[in-house]
Parts: sequence; C-alpha cells; structure tokens
Amino acid sequence: MQRTIRFRLNTEEHTITPEREQPALDWIRNTAQLKGTKEGCREGDCGACMVILGENIEGKPVYRAVTSCTLGLSDLDGKHIITIEGIAAAGITPVMQAFLETGASQCGFCSPGFVVALTALFIEGGPIDYHHAITAIDGNLCRCTGYGSIRRATAKLIEAFPELPKDFATRLAFLAEKGILPQALADTMHTLPEPIREIVSTTKTLGGGTDFFVQNPDPDQELIPHYTDLEPHAQQIRLEDDRLIIGSAVTMRDFFASERIRTMYPGIEQYEQYIASTPIRNRATLAGNIANASPIADMTILLLALGAELIIKNAHGSSRSLSLQNAFISYKKLAIESEERIDAIMIPATTVRISFEKVSKREHLDIATVNSALAVEEARDGTIKQARLAIGGVAPIPLILEEAAAMLLGSRPTAERILQAAERAQAAVSPITDVRGTSEYRKRLVYRLVLAHAIRLWPEREEELLP
Ligand SMILES: Cc1cc2nc3c(=O)[nH]c(=O)nc-3n(C[C@H](O)[C@H](O)[C@H](O)COP(=O)(O)OP(=O)(O)OC[C@H]3O[C@@H](n4cnc5c(N)ncnc54)[C@H](O)[C@@H]3O)c2cc1C
Ligand code: FES
Ligand code: FES
Repeated sequence: MQRTIRFRLNTEEHTITPEREQPALDWIRNTAQLKGTKEGCREGDCGACMVILGENIEGKPVYRAVTSCTLGLSDLDGKHIITIEGIAAAGITPVMQAFLETGASQCGFCSPGFVVALTALFIEGGPIDYHHAITAIDGNLCRCTGYGSIRRATAKLIEAFPELPKDFATRLAFLAEKGILPQALADTMHTLPEPIREIVSTTKTLGGGTDFFVQNPDPDQELIPHYTDLEPHAQQIRLEDDRLIIGSAVTMRDFFASERIRTMYPGIEQYEQYIASTPIRNRATLAGNIANASPIADMTILLLALGAELIIKNAHGSSRSLSLQNAFISYKKLAIESEERIDAIMIPATTVRISFEKVSKREHLDIATVNSALAVEEARDGTIKQARLAIGGVAPIPLILEEAAAMLLGSRPTAERILQAAERAQAAVSPITDVRGTSEYRKRLVYRLVLAHAIRLWPEREEELLP
C-alpha cells in the first residue's frame, strides 16, 4: 500500500509503510508475531480474531471490540489496537479467572476472543448487566463448551463488577486497580497516537471493511479510510432544517445508540440485535450497507422505509442528491459512478413509528431470507398521513411497495384494509427460488410480514388478523 501509518499496538507505538493492504489480523499474527489473536473463519463470523480498537469518535477516544479479519491495516493510522497479549501482559485477569473457574475454556481457541470482548465491555463502561454482557459476546463462537460455562463465567463477572465509574479516566484507573487491564496499558489509553494522514489518490472508499474484507481478503488496491478528524461531519448525526443528516462514517452501533434517532423513531433500537453482531455493528457503516447494494441489506430496508435520500459527492467535491429508492439499478448495482461516494444519508426529521422484521434461518447473526420495514407517520387521532413499506429478498433490488402502503393511509387501518395491503404486497413481488427459500415461501412471507408489522403497530388488531 506504500502509505506510512502510525498506530499503537498494546503499549508500543509503530510507524510502518506496509507494502500492501491487508487485514490487521495478518499483520498482528505474521509481522508482530502476536499469535493470541486467532484466525478462524476470516469472515467476521467467529470472533476468534477479536481485538479492541481505540479511535477518536467526535474528538474522544472510544474503545470497542472489532474483528481484526475485517479491519484494514490502512485504517489503523492514529488508532490503538489492544490484543489479548496486551490485556494479559501483567498476568491472569479477572475475566480470564472467571473462565478458568467455570470451565469456560476447553480447547481454548475461542477464549482470547471472548476475553477481549468482555474486557471491551468493561472499558466501554456499561451498562453492566447479564443482557448487555451476553450481547457483548454475541459475535463469538465456541465449538467446545456448549456455552453454558461461558454464560456462567459471564454471570460471575457481572456479579463481581456490577458498576463501573462513568468517567472514562476514572474507569481506566478502576480497571487497572482491579487487574482487568494492566496499569501500563491503561496509562496509554487516555490519548491516541497522532495520525500521519498521508493521503493517496484513490477512488476506493472504505467504510468499516466488514463487507469489503470478506469479499477481498487479499486486496490489491489502495484504500482510503475515513479521516474523521478531517471530516468531523462524517461521524455525526445532525439535524438540519427538517432533516437528519447521517454522515458516511456513522456505524450501525452509533445509529442505534443515537438519542436523536431513538427520539425520532421510538423503539427503533429493539431491531439492532437482529443485525450482524456487536463487533460487526461497531464497525459497519450505514453508507457501506447501502453501497453494497445487496437486496437484503438490513439497514437499507430500514432507511428505505424512513424515506432516505443520499448525498453523493464526486472526486472534485461537487455533490448531488439521489433518493435511496431510485439508487438501485440492478442486482448489487447502484446508480453511483466509480469516482463518486456516499457523503451522507438524509432522512426526514419527522416522528414515525417503525416496524422491522427479518426472517432468517438463525435468529441472530444470519443473512435475511426476506426482510421488511413499515414506517408510519400518524396524526394525533391515529390517522395515517404517510406509510412506507420496504421489502428485501424478493427481487434483485430492495423494493418500496407503494400500492400496498397506500392501503394503510387515512383513518386507523381496519383488519380488512390491513389484509388487503398484505395481499397487494404479495401480488407485487415475483421472487426467485434459491438456497434460502422458494419463490412461493418468499411470497407467503411478504404477506405474513405485513401482518406482523400491523400487529406491532396496531396491537388491537391482532385477534382479527390472526383468528
Ligand atoms: C459476520 C457478518 C455479519 C453481517 N451481518 C449483516 C446483517 O445482519 N445485516 C446486514 O445488512 N449486513 C450484514 N453484514 C454485512 C456488512 O457488515 C454490512 O453490509 C455493512 O453495513 C457494510 O458496511 P462497511 O462500512 O463495513 O462497508 P465496507 O466493507 O467498508 O464497504 C462495503 C462496500 O461499500 C463501499 N463503500 C463503503 N463506504 C462507502 C461510501 N461512503 N461511498 C461509496 N461506497 C462506499 C466500499 O468501497 C465497498 O465496496 C454482515 C457482515 C459480516 C462480516
Ligand atoms: S477470523 Fe472469524 S471473525 Fe475474524
Ligand atoms: S473452548 Fe474450544 S472453541 Fe471454545
């Protein structure tokens, strides 16, 4: 890649000019020779390669667990990587001890990843309860234990450390005192290394890399990560006039955590758990989810229902807007030229209620067979002023079903109108049969998902809809 970068690995600063782009995992294992970070699936699925990434988010150091097999080496400029060796530098930590005492480590291959994920939970500062702790390890797989002992280790840990100091500096001191982090490591975490920011001319924009590195495990092109300190708007979700502007570096994690988003779309955070896993959501951007142009991308379906528009910028800095609905041309093809990139995503700043449904073979960490979202804007008396129904997995591109949604407009929908909307939606799609489901099954799902949305949004209709 021939670009000089500066980053910290555990307690040591490195300035390197690697010859080629590669996943950080390869550099950690092969060049730094830190073999505690394991290579399992190399697709972001197993968590064996988990590290903690420290980066500046809106001017503050933020540390989160990420999968190093989907993390670009070029993206480390100005960042801090903590591996299991860094965590264990002063000996067995309380997280490891909990695993030892409960028999939560057998062959041990997955154990560094679990320890890293739980240590990241403590660094992040909570909330520390069983639900959040189990969510923190939702991106880690274990082939030996059957998870019972890992759950016990997790429960033991949160019992021992139910509360953490809110302030980051005080929390680091607490974690060092309790041995969760070595003091020498904690001392380095207050600031991040100064990035070199060597800009190379390239047309390839990188988001979190969670899709790119799965498709290109050995990339041959120069990538340009976000320098969010140079473009602070890229990390922000800001209100401008009557729109929310979501920067291109905003991750799934930050989107669902945003108070602005939660206030505008009440209950939207409940859908986060159905999308990817904690370490993937910590990196995956909304812009990358759209740019993939997958017909089943989950954030795309949510954003379509919310009426999103894209701000597209070209290499010369001029920009244009494009409605998300019109952005998809054909399977995996977006109406964006190769020298253009998504600069931001705009959604109307209108309070809407939204329902999201995803049908997949596994409840978590799986690709959708069919996914769908219905967003409704209601007047005080319950009249539906606006309804948008988005559906994925039934055509080469994600769809907006306007006719079906129009059936819901007007007075609070009756069961009869909801059933008509479901029938219209089903009639509007002609899905193909593939390994995830037959055409008939997908059509049936469309019908059922409209009913599922209606029951979530108007629970009083449940009995009539599901007699
Ligand atoms: C284990 C695992 C589970 C996953 N689960 C889900 C899931 O449940 N649901 C789901 O929808 N997806 C899932 N994904 C897919 C992926 O994480 C998402 O699509 C993610 O949003 C991609 O974002 P990114 O920032 O990582 O994109 P990247 O990998 O960085 O980029 C993807 C593509 O988009 C381009 N790109 C990125 N940013 C821009 C931009 N601003 N402008 C133009 N082009 C750009 C890149 O050049 C690249 O071609 C999963 C992935 C993994 C590895
Ligand atoms: S090796 Fe499996 S998540 Fe990275
Ligand atoms: S202990 Fe063997 S994979 Fe988890």
